[in-house]
Amino acid sequence: MMNILSSSILSADFARLGSQIEEVDKAGTHYIHIDVMDGMFVPSISYGMPIVKSIRGITDKLFDVHLMIVDPIRYIKNFVDVGADSVTFHQEATDDPMAVIDEIHKYGKKAGIAIKPATPIDAIVPYLEKVEMVLVMTVEPGFGGQQLIPESLDKVRELRKLIDKKGIDVDIQVDGGIYIDNVEEILEAGANVIVSGSGIFKGNISENVKTFRKILSE
Ligand code: DX5
Ligand code: ZN
Repeated sequence: MMNILSSSILSADFARLGSQIEEVDKAGTHYIHIDVMDGMFVPSISYGMPIVKSIRGITDKLFDVHLMIVDPIRYIKNFVDVGADSVTFHQEATDDPMAVIDEIHKYGKKAGIAIKPATPIDAIVPYLEKVEMVLVMTVEPGFGGQQLIPESLDKVRELRKLIDKKGIDVDIQVDGGIYIDNVEEILEAGANVIVSGSGIFKGNISENVKTFRKILSE
């Protein structure tokens, strides 16, 4: 299974968003991770469709949209229309995850289901065969720059075992508190899609991406 790096633009300098996306693109990020927050599912508000639309022309890299919004089915088409290639929603944010998955697939996009640190793996087991990706949050969603919750890696291990046992092809994404100096341990736990915001956009962006890529390919 291929390891993938997804750069979370939440930690970018928004005054230089275009050039910073070009920089992660050139340095070799695989995906662009786009965090959408509604001030309800999480306390903060980030950005929405107009931003996605205006950055779509900058790069051909996969747009990995992480919806931290209540009742996500309402906005799937909007994000697809502005260029999302993959849409991940939270299990906790909907009464009907299967309907959201079907809605994403209706537009031919990849579907991901996410769980917060307190939500057990059991909550997404019924959807494992239906999605392309499971996102195990390694921090409480809502803000960049937090510290990884070590117990969340136990869930990654549990999920990796389950996916391998079932012999299915599902990506395990991790998001929050991931840096060059702890990513190895996270890969070892069984994750293969690595999201990083502060770990990429703070300091030398190109060097950070290249170092992550090197570790991910080893
Ligand atoms: C948090 C977001 C993350 C965030 C990660 O709610 O889902 O994608 O940008 O930022 P870092 O890597 O700084 O923890
Ligand atoms: Zn995210």
